[in-house]
Amino acid sequence: MKILGILGSPRVGGNSDILLDQALAGGRDAGAQVEKIILCQKKISGCLNCEKCNETGVCAIKDDMPEIHKKILEADAIIHSCPVYFWAMTAQMKAYLDRWCAFFDAEWRWHKAIYPKMKGKKIGLITVCGDPNVSTADPIVHSFKNTADFTKLKWIGAVMASASAKGEIAKNEKAKKEAYALGKKGVTP
Ligand SMILES: Cc1cc2nc3c(=O)[nH]c(=O)nc-3n(C[C@H](O)[C@H](O)[C@H](O)COP(=O)(O)O)c2cc1C
Repeated sequence: MKILGILGSPRVGGNSDILLDQALAGGRDAGAQVEKIILCQKKISGCLNCEKCNETGVCAIKDDMPEIHKKILEADAIIHSCPVYFWAMTAQMKAYLDRWCAFFDAEWRWHKAIYPKMKGKKIGLITVCGDPNVSTADPIVHSFKNTADFTKLKWIGAVMASASAKGEIAKNEKAKKEAYALGKKGVTP
C-alpha cells in the first residue's frame, strides 16, 4: 500500500505542508508506505495540448512530470495539498494537474494500459486559505472532485482549513486531526 503526497505550495514547511505531513503520518500509522513530492522543487511545464499523448500515452514534454506520472500509477492513494492563490489553486498544482492529460485518449478515457492502474485509486485534497471562510477554496475542491468523479477515481474527501502566516496551522488541532484521518482513509478499503 503506497500513499503519494503532492504539495502544491511553494512555501515548504508552510501550512499545506504541515497538513500534508499529518495526512502522510495517518497513512503511515495505518500501514502505508508514504512519499511526498514538493512540486516547486520539480520542473513541470504546462500542458501544450499537442495531443501526442492521445495515441502514445506518453507526454511529449521532457521535464520531471513523466517521473511523477510513474509514481501516480504506482500509488494506491494520492493526497494533494494546496493553498488558495487568488481564489484558485497555485500555478505549480495547476501545471501538475493539467499534465494528467497524458493518461487519457482523445475521448478522455483512460489509456487501456493505464486503466487497470488507475481504477479504484483513491484521491484526496487538503486546502488552506487566508480567508477565515474556508469555502474560498471551493474552486480547488471543485477541480479535484470533478476530476475524480469524471474519471471514476475514489474520492476520499477534502480537508479545508484557514491560516495565513507560515506554520500558523500547527496551532489548529482540528485541521491536523482531519488531515491525519484523511491519510488513514487512504489506506482503509
Ligand atoms: C499569491 C498569493 C495569493 C493568495 N490568494 C489568496 C486568496 O485568494 N484567498 C485567500 O483566502 N488566501 C490567499 N492567499 C493566502 C494563502 O492562501 C495563505 O497564506 C495560506 O496559508 C498559504 O499556505 P502555505 O503556507 O501552505 O503556502 C494568497 C497568498 C499568496 C502568496
